Amino acid sequence: MKNIAIIGGGSWGSALANLLVDNNKNVIIYDNDKATIDEINQFHTNKSKLNEAKLNKEIVASNDLTKVLNHSKIIVLAVPTSVTRIVLEDIRQVLTEEKIFCNVAKGLELKTNKRVSEIVYDVIDKDLISGFVSLSGPSHAEEVVVRKLTSIVAASENINHAKLIQEIFSNTDYFRVYTSTDLIGAELGGSLKNIYAIASGMLDGLGYGINAKSALITRGLIEMKRIAIKLGAQEETLNGLVGVGDLIVTCMSRFSRNYSAGLLIGEGDDLKTSLSKMTMVVEGVKTCKTAYFLARELKIQTPIIDAVYNVLFREIEPKIEIAKLMARDLKSEQ
Ligand SMILES: NC(=O)c1ccc[n+]([C@@H]2O[C@H](COP(=O)([O-])OP(=O)(O)OC[C@H]3O[C@@H](n4cnc5c(N)ncnc54)[C@H](O)[C@@H]3O)[C@@H](O)[C@H]2O)c1
Repeated sequence: MKNIAIIGGGSWGSALANLLVDNNKNVIIYDNDKATIDEINQFHTNKSKLNEAKLNKEIVASNDLTKVLNHSKIIVLAVPTSVTRIVLEDIRQVLTEEKIFCNVAKGLELKTNKRVSEIVYDVIDKDLISGFVSLSGPSHAEEVVVRKLTSIVAASENINHAKLIQEIFSNTDYFRVYTSTDLIGAELGGSLKNIYAIASGMLDGLGYGINAKSALITRGLIEMKRIAIKLGAQEETLNGLVGVGDLIVTCMSRFSRNYSAGLLIGEGDDLKTSLSKMTMVVEGVKTCKTAYFLARELKIQTPIIDAVYNVLFREIEPKIEIAKLMARDLKSEQ
């Protein structure tokens, strides 16, 4: 497959377009932001999202959705989850032939609790979906665009579709893709980890150390597993790149906007102020709200998610939530 269409020319969509051109693919990006399109076409940059990184000159950007969809049998969805349904409605209006949908966004839909694969099957006529793949794992766009080593996972219920995406995105220089058939685990791992990235930023903002962060990552993984396994995921998926891998990168990296938003809150900002300082989407905020209600629906204990929810949406001081976590009944780890 030589031609690939990417929907969303933000940080991740642009970095993946750059990777695909490195892999000798013909790439067209669709975006609804004219300034982004012009900048990619004329200057081969996306400065508000990827700073000074130079993109491959061969990348074409367009606001003509029909033209972009007609370019390829594979549609890469790289818009924030909050607009996925809106964009899919636009796609539905003009789609005439079946496509493989490959989602790279990480989040759950607010109110419906749906994963992106479920949103795609909700909106697009089933006859026009030849497959769905989730491409997820520890991967900051800022590193991929400058060709730093990265390994992620292509997950699909159809192993042949996972293998197709693996072949298209992998190269021997810097990008290695594993396959998985655990779509639920991949989608949930990639989404839930953003909540702990916000918590990780808060810890740093409050001046806690690496002991606290290690405990957050470890106990966060346990919460992620509780939710994901109850919804049908396999435990080994959460132990892999889309779970532990992504949790580590997002809790430890200065590139994570979820971490950065949490850091500002830990330093004293409220949610609105911290989000106003971010130029890119902070998926973990909405995912936290979704996961909070999902955990109640599933009758699962998620004390860290509850604490982050209370700070974000009930404006309780992070220090008070930490005190509550520390005062919980002592128990065995087993
Ligand atoms: N940036 C990363 O390092 C990274 C890595 C892995 C996964 N992700 C995930 O990828 C998703 C996108 O993240 P991002 O960092 O690229 O976000 P971003 O904010 O940088 O870019 C989003 C892009 O979507 C476009 N867009 C928004 N609404 C649209 C619409 N209705 N129609 C067409 N285009 C529209 C915007 O104009 C923008 O260019 C998120 O779910 C994120 O969690 C990001």
